[in-house]
Amino acid sequence: MVREAIFWRLIQDFPNVSYNQYHTFITGLADRRTGESFLTVLCEYQFQDPSAGDGIFMKTLCREIYDLCNKYDYQIKRGWEAEHVHGWEINREILEACKRNMSFSPHLVQGDYLNSELKKPVDVIIANPPYVRQEYLSSDYKQKLIEQFQPEFSGIKLSVRCDLYIYFLLKALKNLNKNGVFTFIIPNSWMDNLYGEILRKLFRDEFQLLSITDSGSRHFKQEVNTVIISGVLKKPAKNNQIIVNLDQKSKSISQESLQSLDLGWHGSLFRCPAWLLKQIRENKALETIGGVFSVCSGIITGNNRAFYHQEKIKNSLPAIRSPKETASIKFTRTNVQSWIGLNGGGFKVKKAPLLWTDLRGGRHVVVWNQDNLPFEHTFYGLHPKDGRNVETWAYILNSSWVWLMVELFGRRGLGGGAIRLVKNDLVKLPIPLFTNIKFPSNLSGFLERPIYNWRTELEQEDRNFVDQYIFKFLGMSTKQKECMILLRLLMEKRESKARSVHD
Ligand SMILES: C[S@@+](CC[C@H](N)C(=O)[O-])C[C@H]1O[C@@H](n2cnc3c(N)ncnc32)[C@H](O)[C@@H]1O
Repeated sequence: MVREAIFWRLIQDFPNVSYNQYHTFITGLADRRTGESFLTVLCEYQFQDPSAGDGIFMKTLCREIYDLCNKYDYQIKRGWEAEHVHGWEINREILEACKRNMSFSPHLVQGDYLNSELKKPVDVIIANPPYVRQEYLSSDYKQKLIEQFQPEFSGIKLSVRCDLYIYFLLKALKNLNKNGVFTFIIPNSWMDNLYGEILRKLFRDEFQLLSITDSGSRHFKQEVNTVIISGVLKKPAKNNQIIVNLDQKSKSISQESLQSLDLGWHGSLFRCPAWLLKQIRENKALETIGGVFSVCSGIITGNNRAFYHQEKIKNSLPAIRSPKETASIKFTRTNVQSWIGLNGGGFKVKKAPLLWTDLRGGRHVVVWNQDNLPFEHTFYGLHPKDGRNVETWAYILNSSWVWLMVELFGRRGLGGGAIRLVKNDLVKLPIPLFTNIKFPSNLSGFLERPIYNWRTELEQEDRNFVDQYIFKFLGMSTKQKECMILLRLLMEKRESKARSVHD
């Protein structure tokens, strides 16, 4: 992260430097004159770490700069860091420990970075801010933060639901000088969730983004998936290209293309290949779930223990309580394992012909609720808007295409390696629109046999037939194999994460 931040800042002053030239410089292999010219500029920069912790960024930065000066025989002022590297830490004990373990002497302040006064704008801010969820912040503190930051960021709407790291980023943006660069490691939830729209707007419209890296793992002992994001304090240049890094692979995308991202950013940037994203945008045979179905949530009793029973009691209805109760796609009265008692319950009984499993592990299933039984909010209910073709939809919604869309655009990081689509995302999910074609009757076993865990399920011949139909209809037969490889890869990754959480 330190090298990345230095690189992006130097690029602002030396726009023609290539990554290779920079790499030669930073590894000490450039000639002395080149080294000196970079160092003259680099040693003038002001650096900040807003949430120092054990001071790892400052330590790395100082070591890097002193080593480079040594390598290129460049005279740096003794105690350079006291004037050029500034760190904040709110916790006195953490700050004391940081000082004790540091062989350099940066300028360290004990206090709240968000309330700090800035003496000089800075050139580079590198941060691993605290990821304190808004629920844990006092309402007074939250209100003060909104009052402090809202007037200066009128393009976004701050709310009491903003996590603390959003304010660290806003404060950093205020503290940077023109062409100043920030490199932050933050949770990736902003890429998909409702409250993340604030950051998505900033990064789409207001500031030039430089790179986004998916760390793809849990960092810093916290169960949080993170991204490293670098940007510069200036309006996005036309045709600005952002480097997107995942698993040691890089691609570049235009900042303008962020405008047209309809589905979640994490899936669109990191999981979905560009060709597939283009298909999704342009293939006329695709519709969205919200275009075809009205989506409703299930029953919330408020006390399942009291209202659900394992056998029929007086004034109860047979119901579907959980995906665990379903073996096959088709579910009828004969499969019922739960009855919902109606006495004393103020809840609304919800019914729908197709039930979308909300939280998914290793088994994907959309239930065809043939007898229109009441269902619990472990599902979303789907009603075809035209009221027709429920059986055909049962095939389509259980096809591997739909699995792939869930794996690409669903939200992860839920613990246990599960994935889900909240309603806002679900209605945008692209599905094939061919309700007038009937699946051949010899495929009906697909709806009646048990649906297995994904590995076994992907080996099933009837599934393969259903998939072939669907890819053919989408005009994507030649891409079916590639899609299936991608699906396996995504499922394996998620499964291994589930395992590492349980280990
Ligand atoms: C996630 S840790 C980061 C530590 C370090 N930067 C690293 O990467 O290992 C966040 C640190 O921010 C500190 N912190 C929390 N709120 C703060 C605030 N308002 N101002 C300054 N520091 C704060 C915490 O005490 C904690 O040490």
